[in-house]
Amino acid sequence: MNKSGKIRRVRVKLGCRSYWIHIGSLQKTSVELGKLISGRGVLLITDANVEKTGVVEDVLEDLSGASDLGLIVLKPGERTKTLGAVEDITGFAARHNYDRKSCFVALSGGVGGDLTGFAAGIYKRGVEFVQIPTTLLAMVDSSVGGKTGADLPEGKNLVGLFHQPAGVFIDPEFLRTLPACEWRNGLAEVIKYGIIRDGEFFEFLWANRKRLNRRGADADLLGAVIERCVTIKAEVVAADECESGLRAILNYGHTFGHALEQLSGFKLAHGSAVAIGMVLAGRLACDLGIFDRESADRVEALLKAVGLPVSVPAGYAASDIIEAMKGDKKNEGGRIRLVLPESLGRVRITSEVSEEKLFEFLNRQV
Ligand code: GLY
Repeated sequence: MNKSGKIRRVRVKLGCRSYWIHIGSLQKTSVELGKLISGRGVLLITDANVEKTGVVEDVLEDLSGASDLGLIVLKPGERTKTLGAVEDITGFAARHNYDRKSCFVALSGGVGGDLTGFAAGIYKRGVEFVQIPTTLLAMVDSSVGGKTGADLPEGKNLVGLFHQPAGVFIDPEFLRTLPACEWRNGLAEVIKYGIIRDGEFFEFLWANRKRLNRRGADADLLGAVIERCVTIKAEVVAADECESGLRAILNYGHTFGHALEQLSGFKLAHGSAVAIGMVLAGRLACDLGIFDRESADRVEALLKAVGLPVSVPAGYAASDIIEAMKGDKKNEGGRIRLVLPESLGRVRITSEVSEEKLFEFLNRQV
C-alpha cells in the first residue's frame, strides 16, 4: 500500500484517444478501472512470475464488473514476445466469443504489455486495452504511449502498431517483489528522462541516489519519480505520437544499447545495455564537441551509483556493434540515427555521424 495514500494522475493528451495514467494503490484507483471495464468482456493477460506474487486474485476482484472474465498466463521473458503469443491471445478471445466492446487488460511487465496491446489492436480490427504495469520499466516507459508489438526471429519489435491504452494503472507496491536486475532496468530509463528532457530531474535523482537503491522502501519518492517520468513521456507522445520526430529522443542510449543487447544474445539486461548506450552517446557527443566532459562524467557517476554498468563488456568488436546498429528499425536511408546529449536535459537527433567516425570512436571504447 502506498504509505502516503496519495494518488497522482497524469493525462496523455491525444484528442479522442486521450487517457489517464493513475499512480497509486490499485485499491484506491479501482473505481476508475471499474468504469473502463464495466459490463464488457474482459481478458486479463499476465505472466507466471506475476502470478507467483499472488496479485492476480486481487486484480480479478477489481475486474468483477466485467460481463465475462478470462485469464491468460504467459511464460515470462522476451522469448514469449512472438506472433505465436499474439495468436494465442486472439485465438482465446475468439473461442470465448469476446466481441468488439471487449477490453484486454495487461497485468505485466513490458513483454506482456506490448503483446496485449498488439493483440487488442488487431483483434476484430481493434478493441480497447488497459495497462497495469508490474515492473519499473513498464511503469515509466512501455505501458505509456501506445507502442505495441512482438519480436521476429530477425529482430526485436519488428512487428506491431501504435495502439493507445484506455488507461494506465501504476501501483508502486508491485515493485516490492521486483528482482534487483528488473529494478535496475527501470532505473536506466528513469535516468534517461533526466538527460533527455529535464536537468532538474537529473539533479533530483542524483540527490536521491541512495534512497533510489532501496526499492519499494519509499513510496512517496517512487510516486514522485514515476510521475515525473510519465509526465515527460506523456508530453513527448502528445507532441509526436507516431515518432515522426521528437519521440525519437526516447531512444537515447537505445541505438548502442540494442546493438549490445543483440550481440550478447540478450544475456546483457536491457537496462545495462541502455546504461552503456547512454554513456557511449555521451562520450561520442563530447568527442564531437557538443557535450561537456563534466556532464558526461556525472551521467556515468549516477548510473554507477545505482548499480548500472558504464563500459562495454569485454569481447565486443567495434565493427560488430556498427553492423548491429545498422539493423535498427529507426534508421533512415541506411544511415545510423543517434540521439546525442547537448546538456543535462537536452538532446539532439542526428544521422550525421559517419560510419568512419563511429568506428574510430567505438574502437577506443571496446
Ligand atoms: N520506448 C520508447 C517510446 O515509447 O517511444
